[in-house]
Amino acid sequence: MTGTSTTTDMSTTLAGVRFPNPVFTASGCAAAGQELQQFFDVASLGGVVTKSIMLAARSGRATPRMAETPSGMLNSIGLQGPGIDAFLEKDLAWLHGKGARAVVSIAGGSVEDYATLASRLRGHDGIAMVEVNISCPNVESRGEVFACDPRAASAVVSAVRKNVAPGIPVFAKLSPDVTDIALIARSCVDAGADGLSLINTLLGMVIDTDTMRPKLAGVTGGLSGPAIRPVAVRCTWQVHQALPDVPILGMGGIRTGLDALELLLAGASAVSVGTTVFNDPTAPVRILRELQQALADRGIERLSDVVGLAHRPLDPPQPTVPTGPIGDLLPEEVEA
Ligand SMILES: Cc1cc2nc3c(=O)[nH]c(=O)nc-3n(C[C@H](O)[C@H](O)[C@H](O)COP(=O)(O)O)c2cc1C
Repeated sequence: MTGTSTTTDMSTTLAGVRFPNPVFTASGCAAAGQELQQFFDVASLGGVVTKSIMLAARSGRATPRMAETPSGMLNSIGLQGPGIDAFLEKDLAWLHGKGARAVVSIAGGSVEDYATLASRLRGHDGIAMVEVNISCPNVESRGEVFACDPRAASAVVSAVRKNVAPGIPVFAKLSPDVTDIALIARSCVDAGADGLSLINTLLGMVIDTDTMRPKLAGVTGGLSGPAIRPVAVRCTWQVHQALPDVPILGMGGIRTGLDALELLLAGASAVSVGTTVFNDPTAPVRILRELQQALADRGIERLSDVVGLAHRPLDPPQPTVPTGPIGDLLPEEVEA
């Protein structure tokens, strides 16, 4: 079944801000977009999510920082970056000049760091949203990751929301490495987050069986790529179910338009494309094209019509248990 791809309205709204389409880059996978510009116009994306920026310049962790895994990769970059001043002066100004919608990702080691970063963004043009990467160790709490503690996550989000100019949405980026992601999501929203980005990488580890030592210099690293997509779908589903009115920027292992559609159906209003960009730099625009075609093929007129659609019962309702005597059988009897 094929349809015309021109009929579907691909625009999406995140916390009151309208984007022409729902495909964004993922933080850390396309720097600030300059390298992608040789492959396509970054302004054609819904938005460019920049690599998490910290207050000071950082050289990151020792190498090796990346390792391949089945259907994914492990990274331990350590938030290498130029620091907020150089970022604002060069990267943000470049994105603004290109007409791209910048989603600025910030990261810190203390609540104070995040508050300062947020206030430094004030007065700069071209910021469509702020994404708060809370998957960072809290130096004031024995290195506990902010995203894994509802109170710490809440303190960061509240400080950022107070300091970012009103009218610019603040999205908290959640980690899947928690027992109850909806609990963390709720504490971020209660603290003032206008939306949620999910998921960040999962903590993983690879050991080289020749050297018989960890492959990454940082020992553990973040797992990303297709291997984590079912986790991203599950997290998006759970958060949308708990907080249906809160917009979600979904990500994790998206490689195709259908992968993006899956996350939209789970409850995301837009998606970020990360690891795939490393082996196909044109992936974001290809995924947008494939998604538009997939929606047209399904007779969908507006992208917003599929957001969270998988939560709604089929119409007419389909029986989940066969009617008649078989419905009374125990599950084991049905299996046999
Ligand atoms: C090399 C690399 C660097 C990343 N750096 C950041 C970062 O700076 N900030 C952040 O919030 N997430 C970072 N991420 C996580 C991604 O933004 C994304 O949440 C995750 O990789 C899942 O999406 P994917 O499977 O499409 O890559 C990074 C991921 C990778 C692979």
